[in-house]
Amino acid sequence: MENYKLTEPRYEAMNYRRCGRSGLLLPEISLGFWHNFGEAADPDTCRAIVEAAFDNGITYFDLANNYGPPYGSAETMFGRIFKQSLKSHRDEILVATKAGHDMWPGPYGEWGSRKNLMASLDQSLRRMQLDYVDIFYSHRPDPETPLEETMQTLVDIVRQGKALYVGISKYPPEMAARAYAYLREAHVPCLVYQGRYNMLERTPEEEILPQAAAEGAGYVAFSPLAQGLLTDRYLNGIPEDSRMRHSKFLNESVLTPELLAQLRAWNDEARAEGLSLAQYALRWILRRPEVTSVIIGASSVRQLQDNLKSIRKR
Ligand SMILES: NC(=O)c1ccc[n+]([C@@H]2O[C@H](COP(=O)([O-])OP(=O)(O)OC[C@H]3O[C@@H](n4cnc5c(N)ncnc54)[C@H](OP(=O)(O)O)[C@@H]3O)[C@@H](O)[C@H]2O)c1
Repeated sequence: MENYKLTEPRYEAMNYRRCGRSGLLLPEISLGFWHNFGEAADPDTCRAIVEAAFDNGITYFDLANNYGPPYGSAETMFGRIFKQSLKSHRDEILVATKAGHDMWPGPYGEWGSRKNLMASLDQSLRRMQLDYVDIFYSHRPDPETPLEETMQTLVDIVRQGKALYVGISKYPPEMAARAYAYLREAHVPCLVYQGRYNMLERTPEEEILPQAAAEGAGYVAFSPLAQGLLTDRYLNGIPEDSRMRHSKFLNESVLTPELLAQLRAWNDEARAEGLSLAQYALRWILRRPEVTSVIIGASSVRQLQDNLKSIRKR
């Protein structure tokens, strides 16, 4: 039973961008579940973040099989919240998941084989209590599995009705080119490329962004705030409740005096424009026409609201 009354109107404050040459529009800001939604997370906070996101026009929720910790728990958390709050809004929402990183023990629990992708998506659907996902991604390139096997599996997943669209993540340009070509020929064009892009990681500007645009795929930027570095989080020390204290994915050693000086300079520039550093960093990404959406993480509703203020209403 849904016991949550969504706020109307919720689409006015958001801009939506066309995802490549597809029929699909994505919100400029999307919500990711890599951190902050695992077993250690407070379910009420998680639910408040998701509800606040949807209330503010965020329609794209980005998951993966192994988000947590432990693996799978973010999908389970999302499934509960979805059932409680959003089920009757299924057609207003895009849910994405991915497979390819390590998920279960043994030779079939990761990478890009048909065995892994098919089994993983079935598991994800069960955890999220969904019949289908809107977007299914190959989460990383697999140097061993023939690319044709991975791509044909994506095609078959769409044909089976378990995903509406497919995408690729972190593929180097040469492999991405072959993936785009295979999927196009199979009449299941690659909807979207998902990669890391932010003020501290500009490599995609060289090849990946123009390539995606030329191939008719959208581009969604993950870790747009460099996991929190491009916010006010670390400007005056390392807070006890921060990702840097709790996650193996953000090491204290990255916070060098040089980086801190750069972050403080950007923070001054942001303030001069009346923006928070987070808003400044998100606007910086959204200036690129090839970018369809930025996928943010948030550990509180306050952070989410701060990030939403980066939207420049047209
Ligand atoms: N395809 C892939 O391989 C891949 C890889 C990574 C991520 N992703 C996707 O991208 C999503 C986002 O990644 P991410 O979590 O690294 O994104 P991010 O937005 O760069 O970092 C999120 C973290 O930044 C801090 N933060 C966010 N907004 C803030 C604000 N306004 N003020 C202060 N601090 C703020 C929070 O840190 P605290 O927790 O310290 O509060 C938050 O957890 C993931 O959830 C996932 O869906 C995909």
